[in-house]
Amino acid sequence: MIKHLFTPQAQDIHIVSGFEIKQKAKQYEDRGLKVIHLELGEPDFDTPENIVRAGMQAMEDGFTHYGPALGLPAFREIIAKYVSSYKNIQVDASNIVVTPGAKPILFYTILSLVNPGDEVIIPSPGFMIYEAMTRFVGGIPVPLPMTEESNFRFSLTDLEERLSSKTKLLILNSPQNPTGGVLTREDLEGVADLVRDRDLMILSDEIYDRMIYTEETPVSIASLPGMQEKTIILDGFSKTYAMTGWRLGYGVMSQEAAAIFNPLIVSSNSCTASFTQMAGIEALTGDQTAVTDMIQEFRKRRDVMIEGLNSITGIRCVQPSGAFYAFPNIGSFGLSSQEMTDYLLDEAQVATLPGSTFGEHGEGYIRLSYANSVENLQEALNRIETAVRKL
Ligand SMILES: Cc1ncc(COP(=O)(O)O)c(C=O)c1O
Repeated sequence: MIKHLFTPQAQDIHIVSGFEIKQKAKQYEDRGLKVIHLELGEPDFDTPENIVRAGMQAMEDGFTHYGPALGLPAFREIIAKYVSSYKNIQVDASNIVVTPGAKPILFYTILSLVNPGDEVIIPSPGFMIYEAMTRFVGGIPVPLPMTEESNFRFSLTDLEERLSSKTKLLILNSPQNPTGGVLTREDLEGVADLVRDRDLMILSDEIYDRMIYTEETPVSIASLPGMQEKTIILDGFSKTYAMTGWRLGYGVMSQEAAAIFNPLIVSSNSCTASFTQMAGIEALTGDQTAVTDMIQEFRKRRDVMIEGLNSITGIRCVQPSGAFYAFPNIGSFGLSSQEMTDYLLDEAQVATLPGSTFGEHGEGYIRLSYANSVENLQEALNRIETAVRKL
């Protein structure tokens, strides 16, 4: 027995991911049944061909060695140009930190900012890694309710009540996982007014900011007066370019913050795979048709999904404005979200995630990812309708 040798914090990390449910679903698949997978948070599209080719070419060209910890200079430059124009902030290569996937930006931010006892305000429901990593370093997660009544945004009053002298970090995520909610410019201006003069940092998780189904372009809090220095933006290629397995993400931050991240990266990943970064250059500078097509397809699927869910007696679902998740309210059935997820898998072979895994305010909901074909979504909706009618 060696488990006791590990720290309590390490032993306590518990993350329910789509992969666990996928594993559970396998028992049905092994029996020859078709499971419809709506539990995973990744696009079902392949990485666009031009990007794959650029990655392969880079390997052939010898981009298979260590590179600079913060990323290849040419790539950081291109990201900076993209960020400056899409997010409407002025940055250069020195503000860009390239990482293997976007998650390390979250990890390094929390590791380098949060002392034991510091408070971190996190969206609830929200991406479960925020809470897990905060607890891991001894920080105190303070859930900020994202309410269905406000299309899964939060109220400024709720935020103000949660700000304290111990608040070190405020995490924002828009468009949001798991609800698809999008914060408005007014929301963010209100946040900026509340925190501008406070001694805290913001982590703005913008990984879904190209997956947006409203006419307005998303706003980054970093673009508001006085906020750029206080903000670390997390973004990456996993979702927008269907590159989850390549592991390619980045942070946008002040030079001061980048200098803090540098030794952490040297000590952990060393750097991000060089050929992956070359593929990233092609992703940002090459033809964007595949992205536009993918987003159009997601929009179509969203409409099928939300209309279908709302036509099922007992289910209610707000229209998400971004990302690729639906977060319906299933409270009328008298089951917990975990029980409903188990029931849908056992009874209908539809794999979903319980809202409770996204924090205390996620109870009463389930998350369905619509990264699946329209045909499969329609079949899933039919199966769900038949299953919940029996309850
Ligand atoms: C809200 C949110 N932030 C960050 C990430 C991390 O993305 P990556 O796979 O690039 O590490 C995800 C992925 O699921 C996410 O949903």
